[in-house]
Amino acid sequence: MSTSATKANLSLSERMADPKWWRQAAVYQIYPRSFYDENGDGLGDLKGITAKVPYLKELGVDAVWLSPFYPSALADGGYDVDDYRDVDPKLGTLADFDEMAAALHEAGIKIVVDIVPNHSSDRHEWFKEALASPKGSAARDRYIFRDGKGENGELPPSDWDSVFGGPIWERITEPDGTPGQWYMHIFAKEQPDFNWENPEIREDFLKTLRFWSDRGVDGFRIDVAHGMAKDLSEPMPMKDDLLARAHGTDGFIDGSHPFWDRDEVHEVYAEWRKLFNEYNPPRTAVAEAWVHESRRARYASPEGLGQAFNFDLLQSDFDAESFKQIITDNLVHAKESGASSTWVFSNHDVVRHATRYGLPKGGSVAQGTNAAQDVTGSKPKGQDGKGWLLAGAPQEELDVELGLRRARAASLLLLALPGSAYLYQGEELGLREVTEIPDSERQDPSFFRNKGVEIGRDGCRVPLPWTPEGPSFGFGAGKAHLPQPEWFKDYAVSIQEGVEGSTLELYRKALGLRRQLQTDEELEWVETGNPEVLHFSRPGGWETVTNFGTEAFELPAGTVVVSSGPLEDGKLPADTTAWVVRDA
Ligand code: NOJ
Repeated sequence: MSTSATKANLSLSERMADPKWWRQAAVYQIYPRSFYDENGDGLGDLKGITAKVPYLKELGVDAVWLSPFYPSALADGGYDVDDYRDVDPKLGTLADFDEMAAALHEAGIKIVVDIVPNHSSDRHEWFKEALASPKGSAARDRYIFRDGKGENGELPPSDWDSVFGGPIWERITEPDGTPGQWYMHIFAKEQPDFNWENPEIREDFLKTLRFWSDRGVDGFRIDVAHGMAKDLSEPMPMKDDLLARAHGTDGFIDGSHPFWDRDEVHEVYAEWRKLFNEYNPPRTAVAEAWVHESRRARYASPEGLGQAFNFDLLQSDFDAESFKQIITDNLVHAKESGASSTWVFSNHDVVRHATRYGLPKGGSVAQGTNAAQDVTGSKPKGQDGKGWLLAGAPQEELDVELGLRRARAASLLLLALPGSAYLYQGEELGLREVTEIPDSERQDPSFFRNKGVEIGRDGCRVPLPWTPEGPSFGFGAGKAHLPQPEWFKDYAVSIQEGVEGSTLELYRKALGLRRQLQTDEELEWVETGNPEVLHFSRPGGWETVTNFGTEAFELPAGTVVVSSGPLEDGKLPADTTAWVVRDA
């Protein structure tokens, strides 16, 4: 086996200076409020992340991506930003950020932060100024204000819905107390959309990107990267006409939607790219863009953000044919764009994959919101939208054991793919979605705006269990901000540490091996003669086999270096993945 070009052979400083570090990085997403609470106030914080750097180092990830930690009223879990160049006092200070960044870098871990450019919060000083200023003022022009329709402007400017439910327009009261204009918010009403045609907005975000880059941030995750450019010229189409006009089989494919995935958005990213390339190594960026796959390469291009999330696996059932197609297609798309592919099963917006795979096929929507449907105009792939997460759906359909077994198999497959692996905090513990959150304790605006029809995304955001005891299972000294279920104790870090076969040890082993085995970005499918079994090979003799079927399968010759579950008489059982290294 050739290991000459593997990451394991690079020194720490070489790895940190490598301009291509992101291409095959394992990136661990931290949802800061729910990771580790150092000061015991019930909310995770930046000092908590610093305290857990040894954990992250031992896990073996190359980078962390932090969901927003900026000042925020938490109307949307921090994606409602009051100030882009500061830390939420509930989470710490800029000095805490610097301390955390230094500790992560010292441990060889890169830092990616979330940038939320489509909208600010309604507490941002610019929005407050817009409300206090008259119609037509420069302050209003930073956001998207329109007069209403109807005799007295009492009707919204268009009939469009927001992603979280309810109208996309909110009416304001003018400074003189009269009912006034309407502003656009694709998400919650506390998240007014910026007007990206205004040069001040463009300048300000360049300033923000520079601010964090200068503080040592290595890359950015761009929230709703496909939402900023808008064409709101009159007459604005009715929502039904829009769907009929621009809808491909799988989403909007011609850039004609008034606010999703318009071509002009790439002018913004071309400017950002120039800024990123001023740094050494260049700053990286990954687009959160729920767009048709044929349009993803634009976001991922080296002249643009450089990489884009592909949520295809995340929207698929645990199914060999579908996995193979998705992997094949995305490797082609990645080559076309010059980027590497991204792979992800779980994040802070979707039902954890250990739950999804424990449901009858087609029984779950991947998302706790209707965002996937709204964004692409279509239902998530492979799912009939029956909506296991709809309030009142029968929870007993969940097979916990099967879900975890498949999640482990899927994750081991994902970690063997060429490209970047995005992991979400808690998946390394095998956590599943928490459904036992009382309505009174829910936080997600999608729950409230949907009037409880969809239960929202809180279930994947519950604070991590670090120990089996304590007021919040070791998360902190106080009660956690979202309630943790009793079963969390069995998944605690300290229970799994050092235990052969635990999910945590599986991730640690796989991530360590990945560093040693990974060379270039090639993948070759190996015919198995069984449509339920996928086998691919990477250069250097690294073979990955996943059994999606029911019968145990004979593994190829070589040494099994890790498997997601025990083998059966040397064979690969159902719902299991193994990595085999061909003997030299
Ligand atoms: C995508 C983020 O991942 C999600 O959590 C958020 O609610 C929306 N963008 C709005 O910012």
